[in-house]
Amino acid sequence: MTDEWRGWREAAQAALYGDEGFYRSPVRSPKGPAGHFRTSVHASPLFAGAVARLLTGIARELNTGTVALVDVGAGRGELLTGVLEALDAGPEGPDVAPYAVEVAARPPGLDTRIEWCAEPPAGVTGLLFANEWLDNVPVEVAEADAEGVPRYVEVRTSDGAERLGAPVTGADAAWLERWWPLSAPGERAEIGRPRDAGWAGAVGSLTAGLAVAVDYAHGRDARPPFGTLTGFRGGREVRPVPDGSCDVTAHVALDACAAAVTEAGADVRTELTDQRAALRRLGVGGDRPPLSLATTDPAGYVTALAAAGEAAELTARGGLGDFGWLLHRVGLPEPG
Ligand SMILES: C[S@@+](CC[C@H](N)C(=O)[O-])C[C@H]1O[C@@H](n2cnc3c(N)ncnc32)[C@H](O)[C@@H]1O
Repeated sequence: MTDEWRGWREAAQAALYGDEGFYRSPVRSPKGPAGHFRTSVHASPLFAGAVARLLTGIARELNTGTVALVDVGAGRGELLTGVLEALDAGPEGPDVAPYAVEVAARPPGLDTRIEWCAEPPAGVTGLLFANEWLDNVPVEVAEADAEGVPRYVEVRTSDGAERLGAPVTGADAAWLERWWPLSAPGERAEIGRPRDAGWAGAVGSLTAGLAVAVDYAHGRDARPPFGTLTGFRGGREVRPVPDGSCDVTAHVALDACAAAVTEAGADVRTELTDQRAALRRLGVGGDRPPLSLATTDPAGYVTALAAAGEAAELTARGGLGDFGWLLHRVGLPEPG
């Protein structure tokens, strides 16, 4: 790690995905992402169960035999493992080809059915799912200077100190103008172009099926005026320092990602909703079991109560329930 000043995109790319990077180094992250923060995947197996139902529904619509389940930014393969377990435990499900797309190495002992790869497989049909991937795709940060001119923010690797660099121009300036205009001095934005391109590429790998991105998100009508760039380490939010010691993340302009997919010319039907609505549709609600169950089936009551608590966490306002769900049906008609 050096003392040089760089834009946030280059600095975060090295800090997260370089040889000694936060997501690559088994020393820094021996337990993978789960050792540093809790995603919906870790919060409850109900999440994997819901994805299993989503996959089963898409397989039924596609009616093509084997369906791919592509998990982009798969961590240690926890979601795929959970989905396979849910399918194995349920009534006869679809024949699934699971792919983990991940920059980190394949963890030992992973289900041998899971193929570990660096890029999404091209030309598959099925479900492509990306839970908290896009917020980890590095982006440039811009800040309006004293005259209101957006400039790139440069960061020092060693301690995370920042200074303003050159004015933002070209495609980045056009993106800001369209998706996250800055005017008042001190306002900041994260320039989501690499996420737009990454997501459009991932969706483009599907010949037919459903692509879903789930992430911390904001829309054009409610961008946070000072941005959302932050760090996580060991379960705590920390100041983002791009030295490989912590996660570096920023919420996602999912509306811009959606437009990039449409503009790439794919045959898609797009929906942007939140996790609360999406999971409710998949049968994950926060309703408590009836109290009468406690007397007729005490063990069943306790199990149902625990599940209701987990569902409530996954769908909570001000928490995971506010996450954005961006869904693209590729080569499929509007749902009936
Ligand atoms: C926040 S973690 C989420 C892990 C998992 N999806 C979950 O929800 O628990 C983001 C993961 O995306 C991976 N990742 C980031 N960029 C990637 C890329 N371009 N290709 C593959 N994996 C990537 C990181 O290595 C990390 O494991």
